[in-house]
Amino acid sequence: MAETLQAPAGVDPARPSSARIYDYLLGGANNFEADRAAAGRLAQRIPEVADTAWANRGFHQRAAKWIAEQGVRQFIDIGSGLPTVGNTHEVVRRVAPDARVVYVDNDPIVLAHSAELIGDDKTAVVIIADLREPDAILENPRLQELIDPGEPTGLLMTAVLHFISDASKPRALLARYVAALADGSYLALSHRTFDHKPTAAMRTLAEVGEQAAGGSHYRSKDEIRAFFDGLELVPPYQGAEPDVSWVGLWGCEDPALADSEGSRWLYCGVARKNGLTRQPWYPIRLPGAPPDEARQD
Ligand SMILES: C[S@@+](CC[C@H](N)C(=O)[O-])C[C@H]1O[C@@H](n2cnc3c(N)ncnc32)[C@H](O)[C@@H]1O
Repeated sequence: MAETLQAPAGVDPARPSSARIYDYLLGGANNFEADRAAAGRLAQRIPEVADTAWANRGFHQRAAKWIAEQGVRQFIDIGSGLPTVGNTHEVVRRVAPDARVVYVDNDPIVLAHSAELIGDDKTAVVIIADLREPDAILENPRLQELIDPGEPTGLLMTAVLHFISDASKPRALLARYVAALADGSYLALSHRTFDHKPTAAMRTLAEVGEQAAGGSHYRSKDEIRAFFDGLELVPPYQGAEPDVSWVGLWGCEDPALADSEGSRWLYCGVARKNGLTRQPWYPIRLPGAPPDEARQD
């Protein structure tokens, strides 16, 4: 296929990237031959790989919309990826037209295409940065212009932490971001897993991940659940226990219909920081109530 896309500065079109492979799997046009070849390699070994991308993207969109429905008006989308249909600012603004969104990604191609994504909209910005540098991201003046630290934030980290090795301490990195958020904020996270997967498929994914992102780090359900420690997970769908689930199931109406091979490559969850629904460990004393020692109950 003749290349119509120009490689922006800092982008090597001969080397596949996770952002552009994902874009290709979602039917986007911001990708090069090397990305399409890598996606083809994946599809040979994992025929459901495009369904996996769609299942994850669907989770991202449902979770962002749901968080906006809880009253959240500002979002930080880390590892945001390339413009596709239904970007975060478009999705949340269907609920709250005044919602502000900060996109963060380490692939310069994301910035190159941000003009078409957000135009001259001043309430959505793209920052090119590595999530392994949380202080630089949280202190970025463009983020600080849009995100009020005193107000609840929707922190979206979907399909990105599996690019972070244990040596980079992904739980500590996540904790740093969560610590910066006000009570009532939400985290939406999805993450690839190798649970119950065939060895040959895992090997191909690991090889492509190495080429496209310098490594991929698949984790078990327990390890992914641990990313939510200290937060209050919400049930993924009506009638379910609060827990992580396959991406296709989160926010679904019928779990039997939403289940698919593709969905079962990523676990996900949405959790609240200091949820109001949880009873505080300390006794609540209402104004005018007698002190504890004087109470008869
Ligand atoms: C599979 S895409 C996910 C896009 C989007 N979050 C979603 O779930 O639809 C992963 C994105 O994470 C970005 N990424 C990978 N490692 C990163 C890092 N260390 N810092 C920031 N972004 C990163 C990639 O460039 C890519 O755009």
